[in-house]
Amino acid sequence: MMRTRPLKVALLGCGVVGSEVARIMTTHADDLAARIGAPVELAGVAVRRPDRVREGVDPALVTTDAAALARREDIDVVIEVIGGVEPARKLITSAFEHGASVVTANKALLAEDSPSLHEAAEKGGNDLYYEAAVAAAIPLVRPLRESLAGDKVNRVLGIVNGTTNFILDRMDSTGAGYGEALDEATALGYAEADPTADVEGFDAAAKAAILAGIAFHTRVRLDDVHREGLTEITAADIASAKRMGCTVKLLAICERAADGRSVTARVHPAMIPLSHPLAGVREAYNAVFVESDAAGQLMFYGPGAGGAPTASAVLGDLVAACRNKLNGSKGPGESAYAQLPVSPMGDVVTRYHISLDVADKPGVLAQVATTFAEHGVSIDTVRQQGKDGDAWLVVVTHSAPDASLSATVEALRGLDTVRGVASIMRVEGE
Ligand code: HSE
Repeated sequence: MMRTRPLKVALLGCGVVGSEVARIMTTHADDLAARIGAPVELAGVAVRRPDRVREGVDPALVTTDAAALARREDIDVVIEVIGGVEPARKLITSAFEHGASVVTANKALLAEDSPSLHEAAEKGGNDLYYEAAVAAAIPLVRPLRESLAGDKVNRVLGIVNGTTNFILDRMDSTGAGYGEALDEATALGYAEADPTADVEGFDAAAKAAILAGIAFHTRVRLDDVHREGLTEITAADIASAKRMGCTVKLLAICERAADGRSVTARVHPAMIPLSHPLAGVREAYNAVFVESDAAGQLMFYGPGAGGAPTASAVLGDLVAACRNKLNGSKGPGESAYAQLPVSPMGDVVTRYHISLDVADKPGVLAQVATTFAEHGVSIDTVRQQGKDGDAWLVVVTHSAPDASLSATVEALRGLDTVRGVASIMRVEGE
């Protein structure tokens, strides 16, 4: 039976995502009510610029006082789509203190401080849902928190930033340099005026922290995630990857160590073979591979950004939070019981592709090979191109700890015969 008294929703933020949330709440009102079992009413919308016209939003609902809206006692669910750590943290905490459940898309806040948010939610028996914080419309948080809650996840490997995937895809398909591809991404509206969060990997690292935390039932913060952006990637790197039958992707990789006693989380560009399903993820799409004991390999694919796709995830969470309010029940809380330590990047074991600018004379190859051997890094293949006393050596290694590889590179730089280390890239997905 449908309850006639509506559930009341406060929307904090009415930008690209918030306005889509408001639109879908209005256009799908009957379906949402039927799915929840009660009507859902937008009871207030907090904005920074109240004079802006927002189609489909009743101006009478608009306020600039987000704090007052978040603490209204009659609100059942607060949707936070402002972003950033503050004032979002204070607003969400206040919403919990005043009896509301919270749906948020705020990856920066969750990567910095999800334990305190979960704690505040638990205190009042409320829900904290955040599907939209990672890869927008792609269901990832709920599958990890709920569908795979009975399995053991060992690895999460994915493309979780659309802007950088667009840039790398353009570099790969057109031979463009990084700057040119970034300009195109900006012109098409993928990259923001200040693209730092995307191109330096901060956005992907926040998502990696969230995914690793849920996957491994362990608290993982942004600071625990090793992060390298893609600003140093050159057209030559992409060409070199192509020669190996690979492409370059900015990957977020969360792994349980082989002995199961620790985990790692990292974001960096990496070569992956063209045969790997992630190599076929083009333009600004996202895709995430999850590997678990019982399920095996799962792949989640779709649009990882944008107003409507992010709103889709928010609305799904809104329905869940409303159903729980109606039934007097609660969704899953924080699961961090495993408390596994997060190991540093030096402990990560993977393969490497290294390009060296060397002198073309007898003994150089032997000297380089000896340097790898001295650091316990085993070479898989070596390719040399030489002309008029100059040569390029491209070395691909077997799996080795990142710390050993760093020490090898340091030693290579000290050799008279090595003029420069042109690029070092990890090789994943084999
Ligand atoms: N800027 C992000 C991206 C979307 O390019 O994927 C929001 O996290």
